[in-house]
Amino acid sequence: MSRSKVDVVLGGFYGDEGKGKIIDYLSKDADIAVRCSGGNNAGHTIEVDGKKFAFHLIPSGIFNKNTLAVIGNGVVIDPKVLIEEINDLKENGVSVDNLRISDKAHIIFPYHTEMDKLLEENRGSNKIGTTARGIGPAYCDKYERCGIRAEDLISDRFEELLTFNIKNKNKIFEAYNHELIDLESTLATYKEYAKVLKPYIVDTITLLHDALDSGKKILCEGAQATLLDIDFGSYPFVTSSNPSIGGVCTGSGVSAKDIGEVYCVVKAYSSRVGAGPYVTEQNNEIGDLIRELGHEYGTTTKRPRRCGWLDLVALKYVVRLNGVTGLAINHVDTIGKLDKIKLCVAYNREGKETTDFSTNTDFLNNSYGIYEEFDGNFGDISNCKTFDELPENAKKYLNRIEEYIGVPVKFIGTGAGRENMIIR
Ligand code: GDP
Ligand code: IMO
Ligand code: MG
Repeated sequence: MSRSKVDVVLGGFYGDEGKGKIIDYLSKDADIAVRCSGGNNAGHTIEVDGKKFAFHLIPSGIFNKNTLAVIGNGVVIDPKVLIEEINDLKENGVSVDNLRISDKAHIIFPYHTEMDKLLEENRGSNKIGTTARGIGPAYCDKYERCGIRAEDLISDRFEELLTFNIKNKNKIFEAYNHELIDLESTLATYKEYAKVLKPYIVDTITLLHDALDSGKKILCEGAQATLLDIDFGSYPFVTSSNPSIGGVCTGSGVSAKDIGEVYCVVKAYSSRVGAGPYVTEQNNEIGDLIRELGHEYGTTTKRPRRCGWLDLVALKYVVRLNGVTGLAINHVDTIGKLDKIKLCVAYNREGKETTDFSTNTDFLNNSYGIYEEFDGNFGDISNCKTFDELPENAKKYLNRIEEYIGVPVKFIGTGAGRENMIIR
């Protein structure tokens, strides 16, 4: 049996591109679906028979009863949220017997969420607009080496580790005149969480490598997106992990050699939640219209998403960085409701035209999109099952994206339902 490959689904821009839907489709053929980075800042929606399921931590592959759903070592886990998600799935008749949690995943505690809110308050007008889920502070502790991992949560060390951390964190909260974290109640609550999660906590690194050796197919479900990457995104307006391709290896333990297809998901337009530069943003009636037509309100925080045109200059950077082999373009139905559609093909930077991209803040703040215009009015495309069935205007738009980027468009989203998709 030859060793199999790991296919990867990554977000292209600033998240919420519809990764959940593509994963849901691809996991039908996957033996294992893995989340590698981020935490419950993610919100992945899947619509099945008109019912919406929002996943924050569990890979959406859990829907397929033959797929093992793995939360990798690179993820930060809020146990309260995870247990709620487990219970919610069970109540909806979805089995979670196939869930596995890496013993090396880090755990989010109330001091992380409180610190996240406190730091945002302190930033005043320079807020990042985090999801306030404690993600940044949890990764800080991981790198500071005082983080508590899943294996610690279920060990005899737990009380000592938590006592040490709460004592230290409370010194900071005290200095800020912020309410202190209560050790006794936190300890009791997390001991209960530990009991619930213990059966799922395993060495997922060995599990994944054994699976690859026995020819099993693995799919990685990216969370967040490349322009939110701590290294490659628009720093500091980013998340605290590596949602791009490198995070797949460090967040799961598979090697670079194991990576197969890399699918990058974008929308036929773009969106962003939280602060930070955004060259193709339409902070006007076009942006408002896209938001309403695409129901662009956060899955996790319900915040209205900033909306704008698709940016091919940025996409080219993203494709290069991740070694993308195929594009998934969602919401083609949504953009097709407009009369005219614009596609950003270059930037005007201080009077000069450029197709180079940089996440340098000054570069982004001083760059303006140069656009090509396309005809919209695609009509109802929700039942199109092949590229050929799409109206000419939609084909022209998609062909131009493919030509510019030089990577095939493999998935085309024609509606929110899991069946509304063209696969090429
Ligand atoms: P994710 O975080 O990348 O998984 O994306 P979200 O779930 O946060 O946001 C994507 C939203 O778009 C969800 O509400 C999806 O149901 C919806 N969606 C995904 N693909 C399509 C599509 O092709 N057309 C339409 N109309 N909606 C879509
Ligand atoms: P999915 O997986 C969209 C954004 C936040 C904020 C920044 C930092 O659903 O695509 P954080 O809480 O991570 O410290 O916030 O990152 N952000 C997301 N935006 N989709 C996401 O996930 C996001 N995860 C984080 O809005 O701007
Ligand atoms: Mg989302």
